[in-house]
Formats: sequence, C-alpha cells, structure tokens
Amino acid sequence: MMSTRTLDRARLASLMAAETERFAAEHPRSHALHERAKASLLDGVPMNWMVRWAGPFPLFVESASGARFTCVDGHEYVDFCLGDTGAMAGHGPSPTVAAVERQVRRGITHMLPTEDAIWAGEELARRFGLPAWQFTLSATDANRFALRLARHITGRSKVLVHDQCYHGSVDESFAVLDEGGAVRPRRGLIGPPVDVAETTRVVELNDIDGLERALADRDVAAVLVEPALTNIGIVLPEPGYHDALRDLTRRTDTILIIDETHTICAGPSGATGAWGLEPDMLVIGKTIGGGIPVAAYGMTREIGDRVRASIPREDADVGGVGGTLAGYALSLAAVRATLGDVLTDEAFERMLPLGARWADGVDGVIRAHDIPWHVTRLGARAEYHFMPDPPRTGAEQAANADPELEQFLHLWAMNRRVLMTPFHNMALMSPDTTEADVDRHTEVFEAAVVALFD
Ligand SMILES: Cc1ncc(COP(=O)(O)O)c(C=O)c1O
Repeated sequence: MMSTRTLDRARLASLMAAETERFAAEHPRSHALHERAKASLLDGVPMNWMVRWAGPFPLFVESASGARFTCVDGHEYVDFCLGDTGAMAGHGPSPTVAAVERQVRRGITHMLPTEDAIWAGEELARRFGLPAWQFTLSATDANRFALRLARHITGRSKVLVHDQCYHGSVDESFAVLDEGGAVRPRRGLIGPPVDVAETTRVVELNDIDGLERALADRDVAAVLVEPALTNIGIVLPEPGYHDALRDLTRRTDTILIIDETHTICAGPSGATGAWGLEPDMLVIGKTIGGGIPVAAYGMTREIGDRVRASIPREDADVGGVGGTLAGYALSLAAVRATLGDVLTDEAFERMLPLGARWADGVDGVIRAHDIPWHVTRLGARAEYHFMPDPPRTGAEQAANADPELEQFLHLWAMNRRVLMTPFHNMALMSPDTTEADVDRHTEVFEAAVVALFD
C-alpha cells in the first residue's frame, strides 16, 4: 500500500532553524573566514557554485584524505560528495600524489607529448573500446570539442540532448522542454550567446518516439547524452532505450557522444562497459586525474579519420579545438597513476557493494518508516528521491524536487559529520569509503526521518 505520510512544513522550518543555529555555533572559524572572504571574493567564495551548500556559510577545508576531510574548526567528515566526483578516487590517492610529485620536478607543461599520454590513450582504449583519444583540462572542454568536431565533419548544425541534462558549461546543452514540448533555455541560464532553440533539440530520457522525430530531418550533428541522467538526480534508462538510441543515430548518420563523466560510477568502463554501449565518441572528466584537472574525449577509427582529413595541419591550433595546457605532462602523469593504480577493477569490486549497501540502508529506513520516497542506484553512486517510484524522465525528477527539504537533510547530515553532494540527494563511494562510513550515513538519515515524520 502506498504511504500516505505527509511532511509537516512548520516542523521542517523549526528543525531547520535549530540545525542552522547548531551549524553556526560549531563552525566559528569557517564563519570568520567567510566574512573575511566577502571583501575579496564575489559572494565570499572562489567559485559561484559554492554558495549552493546548505547552511549560512560554506565549510572551509583544512585538509582531506581518502574518503574524509577536516574543516578549519577541526571536525572530521565522511565525504560522500567527493568534490562532486572530482575526488571519486579518494582525496589525495597516494599513487597519484607520488606521480604528480615526480612529474612536477620533471616538467609540468611543455606542449610536447610524454609517454604517459600513450599509456593514458591505451588504457582509455582498453576500457571504452575507442582507439583515438585527446585530452583537455575539463569535461566541459571535452564536450565542447566533441560537439565542434561532430558539427565540422557532418556539416550539420544541431545538437540533441536529454531534457534536464548537464554536461558542464556547454552552451548548446542548456536547453529544456517546456510543458508544450517546445525547447526553452534552462532556468537560470546566464548570458546565452544565441537562443538555445536555434542550436538544440531536446528529448526526454526514455522517449524513443520523440528521439525518432527529432532525428528524422538528419540535421542533427550529434546526440550528447549521459547514459543515465545523474545531474538532476539519478534517472535510469529503461530496457531497450540505448538500443533504440544507437539504432536511430546510426540510421540517421548522427554521431552518438556518451558523456561518462559521472556514470563511470557504473564500473571501471562506466555504463558503456557495463551495458555494452557503442558510442562514436566518449567523454570523461573529473575522475581520471584523481583531482588534477584533466579530461578526455575518444572516438572511433572512422571518426578519427574524418577529423584528420578535415583539419589542415596549419589550421590545427586556431580552429577552436585545443588549449595551451590541454594534454599537459602533469595531468597525464596523474591519469596514468589514477587509472593504473587507484580506480582499478579491484577498487570497483569494493565500491559497487558499498553503493548497494548505501542504497539498501536508505531503502530500509524508507520502508521501516513508511515514507513515500525512493532510492535509485547506479553502481557506486546512489540517490534518494522525494517520490514513491523511480522517476522515468528528468522532468518527473525535477517536478518532485523539494529544495527546502533537501537543504535541511544536507545540513542535518553535515551537523552529524556526513557530507552529501550539495545538489539533490546523491552519494558517491570512493575506494577509501568503508562500510562503517555507509552505515553512519544510514543512521544519520534515519534520525532525520524520525525527526521529520515520527
Ligand atoms: C556529466 C557531466 N559532464 C560534464 C561535466 C562538466 O565537468 P567540469 O565542470 O569538470 O567541466 C559535468 C559536471 O558536473 C557532468 O556532470
């Protein structure tokens, strides 16, 4: 029977006030640093997203190691945010730290290749089945360049994305569907260069008919998708969706770009390996350098040949693909160590059961207290939703968001030394996360549910 329990908003507001007071009382140094920062940093933070944390000011970090960090007030946290995946390999994994220390002394950047670049290309080819790789400083850049190349070699202008997607600050991807099915700029979009409806088609995840219609005119250069949505909350593809996507993109000569930046949590070869996907191009960022800025995009032999044939050598540096530090030596030393010795098959053998333990723990609490919520898992990443069934589309997930409740749960967890990703209710396991860390989250989550509902 469906749970009929409802949230008492007045109770939520008074709990929130108490947690805010507790946070402020326990973090005087973070508070003082934030006050000082307001004089030199916009909004008192070095990057605008950092205002999104729950609580009246962000935590300032003293140090981080493995799956934990310590704030400047001396409290140690279990970290399920892991730098929103940037630290999925754990904070400061020792093989990466050793490789970076070594490379710093041997030359940080020189715009010449090192052997580490070949190792990285070979390893990515082994994991994802694509033979031609390039490196950038961020997943955003890798997506931008993949899209540029797709438009260049197909001569088509449009890009297709899923509703409620996120692929970094890529102009074409800030498009959503409105209630009538028209393409609109995403809420909060800052300074778009052109109307996104001119550049972008949008379909819901799992909408095969919509996909077929959107590709029918053969004017879409590339479909850029995460294999499962992760940035609006985890929304999984239904059986058959990826087969249809691959079939339709092949039939319309549309390039299929899979962005594995977050979905690498599905296994050592991401969802591409776990589900047997066959992208034409693949993007991965955040994790592969263990926290050192680096991302990669790979392509099939056929796409690589078309790219090579279409870019004269003398134009290679000014065409809009590249960057002075892209593929720099330090980043590739970090990739070699991180993929070779940290985010290994064995590490995933530990991380995946931890993801399952986290999801089972949350699910057990939801059932025991008869709360109309749901938990979804993608390998080493899991998430709870404020709805009784799993969302089928990004729009469904967006419609069930509850920012007030979300902020409360995050702050409650922080006050009990557990850090969640600041956007929605997502947790990620690292190779250093332990069962005790996971169980601590379950305990803290259950206490929050009791405070809210019992
Ligand atoms: C799927 C996906 N692709 C790309 C990006 C962009 O990564 P970055 O901000 O490191 O460029 C993100 C960031 O959250 C992401 O989730």
